Amino acid sequence: MASSPPNDISIKTKKKASYVWSGTVRITQHEKIAKDTYHIRLECPTIASSAVPGQFVMMRLPGRESPLLGRPLALHDTVRHGGEATASEIDIVYIALGRMTRILSNFQPGDSIEVWGPLGNGFPPCQVPNLVLVSGGIGYTPFLAVTKEALKRCSYGRTSRETRVEKVVLCHGVRSSEYLPDLTPFSLAGAEVLISSEDGTVGQRGLVTEMLPEVLDRYQPNSACVFCCGPEAMMRVVAEMCALRGVPCFVSLETPMACGMGICFSCVARLRETNDANSEAWDFHRVCVEGPVFDASRVLFD
Ligand SMILES: Cc1cc2nc3c(=O)[nH]c(=O)nc-3n(C[C@H](O)[C@H](O)[C@H](O)COP(=O)(O)OP(=O)(O)OC[C@H]3O[C@@H](n4cnc5c(N)ncnc54)[C@H](O)[C@@H]3O)c2cc1C
Ligand code: FES
Repeated sequence: MASSPPNDISIKTKKKASYVWSGTVRITQHEKIAKDTYHIRLECPTIASSAVPGQFVMMRLPGRESPLLGRPLALHDTVRHGGEATASEIDIVYIALGRMTRILSNFQPGDSIEVWGPLGNGFPPCQVPNLVLVSGGIGYTPFLAVTKEALKRCSYGRTSRETRVEKVVLCHGVRSSEYLPDLTPFSLAGAEVLISSEDGTVGQRGLVTEMLPEVLDRYQPNSACVFCCGPEAMMRVVAEMCALRGVPCFVSLETPMACGMGICFSCVARLRETNDANSEAWDFHRVCVEGPVFDASRVLFD
């Protein structure tokens, strides 16, 4: 049988060392929330109390050799029950599209799953008044925790992460209404929610990138920042729009991963050595430890 990592692992990057918990955890909730889309809640206090928005965990089906490798899934939110000083559970939202996630969708509350995390860098605390979140498909999942942290509804991680955000706009694009989960938690956290669908069955007809110029045009120079997650083609367009307007943009890359901890080099992406868009100097970087969130001006999209 394939082995799992030990319970505590230290990962060192050029900048810092971080600590990863690994183990087998209990599923406490599991429900379908849209077409092929599931919300799963896991009891893992060590990860829940230390994860920050934009980080991810690796999940692996226990006791199986196939699929052999874990899969990366973003932190959607953490759960703190009444009276608890720190969060004890994490929420993940995933789309059942391949081997691991299709099997996972049949797991029940009470079943177990192997998890290691928290992994990656997460989104930086935003230091301007307007935060625009742009997502396509399942790419919206990291943005609930981002919204709650930015609007000071909830704190994450073990250290203070101050933000200067006053307003959050979520621009979310889906193929059609059947893929749209309930986004009320974003509204309850204080975000303005704008929806687009490719077939016009919900929100504005078209691609989410078509609604972005109108949103960006609302803001004075140096007063907005964009966080983006979704299909790479969408992120490339968003990055170009932001670069044209001089708006800082951070993208969360979704490269396939095997270890999630910097060991296997299966997750590399091409990044410019500086954030000068005209620079031709680039190198491969590991998305799992140096990302998944990068300044979009450094990313060389394929
Ligand atoms: C940091 C990070 C966070 C992520 N967060 C989430 C999340 O919150 N929810 C979610 O549903 N998914 C998320 N993903 C994507 C998820 O890890 C993959 O879709 C995963 O491979 C699904 O596993 P599977 O075994 O079901 O599919 P597989 O059998 O592994 O693959 C199914 C199909 O998807 C393709 N594929 C596999 N991985 C990727 C990828 N990363 N990008 C594009 N195509 C791929 C394969 O080529 C294949 O065609 C994230 C990825 C990363 C890197
Ligand atoms: S997934 Fe192994 S190095 Fe990134």
